[in-house]
This record gives sequence, structure tokens and C-alpha cells, in this order.
Amino acid sequence: MLLQVIKLFGRLLFVGNLASLWVLVNEGVRASHEYLRLIWATYLWRRTISRLPTSELNLPEVPLCEVLPNSDATCVNLQYAMHRPGSLPLEELTTLAIIVRRLQPKRIVEIGTSEGRTTLNLALNAPPDAEIITLDLPPELTGEHRKHSGPNYKQMNVEEPGVLFRDHPVASKIKLVLADSTKFDWTPYERSVDFVFIDGAHDYESVRKDTENALRIIRPGGIIVWHDYGVWKGVTRCLDELREQFPVVLLKDTTLAYLRVTESELQNFEGKRKG
Ligand SMILES: C[S@@+](CC[C@H](N)C(=O)[O-])C[C@H]1O[C@@H](n2cnc3c(N)ncnc32)[C@H](O)[C@@H]1O
Repeated sequence: MLLQVIKLFGRLLFVGNLASLWVLVNEGVRASHEYLRLIWATYLWRRTISRLPTSELNLPEVPLCEVLPNSDATCVNLQYAMHRPGSLPLEELTTLAIIVRRLQPKRIVEIGTSEGRTTLNLALNAPPDAEIITLDLPPELTGEHRKHSGPNYKQMNVEEPGVLFRDHPVASKIKLVLADSTKFDWTPYERSVDFVFIDGAHDYESVRKDTENALRIIRPGGIIVWHDYGVWKGVTRCLDELREQFPVVLLKDTTLAYLRVTESELQNFEGKRKG
């Protein structure tokens, strides 16, 4: 209890620093409030500030143009390109947009919507008849906080998942599902998804479950990308283990792990899962 009080006090000291007072005096309450909001979000996402690996990187690092030839010449459409707390740096957002432009997926699944910045950019670069299914937690589950899984959207001051796309013309391509991805019934999507992006809970058990589900729903030849390899220990451990069965690689200069799955790899995986 005492430790928790000390920790809370430390956080308040961290957030209520002199700079916020300076902003308050010089720019007023609104600016100071916004400043504090951003500092708090940065505090919650402090692991991603430096993007220094928290553990040894075991996946081979490969440039995107090697796994996806001619990707350097791909032209993409981006909105909300500048980095926002809890979302991807520009190079990673661009990388996803390039993959989607090149692959032209008809069905995309994203785990972890948050504001919907990535969802929006996936939709902008997908074909007109594409469907993007994006999952985030229902409000009643946002009170829980599992250690090592990272803050949920409420804790990042996002009022509701998908705020960045809900009034956008491409919203018609997007289906927002409020469910815990690790408990969701993925059966109707089996072997039908062209591209899966995993960026939900970051603890080992959840990433493992999300990965198993992604391998159930992906079609042969489809691509799975994970965010935060080398940043969150649970993600890194899960992908290092996956490397024993699948040729997953780390895209150079990013924290994105990339896997294109073949029919035989999926059959092997199914065989092991069932038997
Ligand atoms: C890192 S943020 C996603 C950022 C988003 N992909 C982007 O690029 O802007 C992680 C999100 O996953 C959600 N989340 C955490 N655990 C989840 C779960 N079990 N099922 C669905 N969503 C989850 C959180 O609420 C949070 O909004």
C-alpha cells in the first residue's frame, strides 16, 4: 500500500512538473491541460520513446524491399502521418501502407484499434472493395489492467476506439468490433484474411493467443505483421518461439515482425494444433 502511494506520488511529480506551470502562466489553462495530457500519454508509452530494444533481437533483420520487391517505388496515401502517442512512428505506418498497396488485400484484420490512425491508413491504401475488421476492448474491460500488456485506449485518453475514422468517407470499409481479441470467436474468418496486423495486448500470453488466431484466419500466401518486436518482452519472446516453426523476420529499422505464410506451413501448424 505504502509503495503504491509512493509510486502515485512519483507519477504526480513527474506529470505536474515546472514546465506545465510555465505553460499555464504563459499560454493558459487549455494549453497546460493539453501539455499534461501529452506528458501522461508519453509516460504510459515510455518504452516506445527511445525504441531501444529491451531484449536481445533474434529474428533476422531484412529490408522491406527484400521481402516485397519494388516496394521502394510504391506510392501511398497517408493521413495523420505525424506520430501520435500509443501509435506507430511514421516509417512503420508507411511500411504498413506500402505492404497494403502492394498486396491489395480484400480482407484485413487489425488487433488493437485505439484512435484508429493505423486502421484509417490501412483503409486508405486498400482496394475500394476491401473490408477492414479492427478489434479493441469493450468499455467494460478497460478498467482492468494486466501487467506487461500496455495501457488500453482509455488509459491513453482516447475517448473511444476509432475516433479518427468514424466520420471519414473510408469508414464504410471499416468494421469496428469491441471484443477481447484473445476470447473472440474467429471461426467465421478462418483461412479468409489476406493481411493481419497485431498490436493489441503486449503480454506474452495475449500475443501468443493473438498469433495462434492469426494463423487460423490467414489464407495461404497472406501476411501477418506484429508491432513492437524488441520493445515489449512478451512480443519478443512469442516471435522468437514462432521463428522455430515459421520464417518470421524483423523489417529493418522498424519494430515490425513480418511473416508471409505458405500453404504447407499452415498445414503443418494445423496438424500440430489438432494432434
Ligand atoms: C498500441 S494500441 C493500438 C495502436 C494502433 N494499432 C495504432 O497503430 O494506432 C493497443 C490497443 O489494443 C487494445 N487492446 C489491449 N488488449 C486488447 C485485447 N485483449 N483485445 C482487443 N484490444 C486490446 C488497447 O485498448 C489499445 O487501444
